[in-house]
Amino acid sequence: MPDDEYVLDTPVIRAFIDDARDAIAAGESPADACARIRPIFADLLGDSEWLPGEYQEPAAESGMGGGIGQWLLYRAVDGSLSLFSLVVPPGAETPIHDHLAWGLVGLYRGTQDEEIYVAGEQTLELRERRALAPGDFYVLIPPRDDIHRVRTTSAETSVSIHLLTNDTGCIWRHAYDPASGEAQPFRSGYVNVPCDDDAG
Ligand SMILES: [Fe+2]
Repeated sequence: MPDDEYVLDTPVIRAFIDDARDAIAAGESPADACARIRPIFADLLGDSEWLPGEYQEPAAESGMGGGIGQWLLYRAVDGSLSLFSLVVPPGAETPIHDHLAWGLVGLYRGTQDEEIYVAGEQTLELRERRALAPGDFYVLIPPRDDIHRVRTTSAETSVSIHLLTNDTGCIWRHAYDPASGEAQPFRSGYVNVPCDDDAG
């Protein structure tokens, strides 16, 4: 059996993932599991020491476009959990996209505006706009809050941390046209690791 992939293999990440897995196993629902994860996620966002600078760098070539770096830190061998940083340069924004998995997303550095959309038939409606500062985080449980776009509003690059219950960078999900609401197949990839079927 291959092991889980700790791209960033440190005691902090090992302990965080162990605790997150315990919370997921004990949770009676995604909402309950997320409630159990909240305190350790808040601690992770509040600790400025654990994330090396290389995972806080933009990436010129990236699936997200705009120089946005999506850096894998950890993923489960069965694709059931991933932890990654998303690095968005000043003024850059992601495509409108979904995640297709529940989990938690929070801001580590810089500031962001987040726009949350609701998809209808051939329509996309802006439901909410919120401003995020370091330490702010939210629980994402599809379909609620699953479709969004983030834009960096700070003069410095923003870094957000994502814990989601899939291999988010490697699954096929959706990007949405803001004008028509049309969904297109979308796979962001990771800057630093391939997806399985990239090999060979
Ligand atoms: Fe996202």
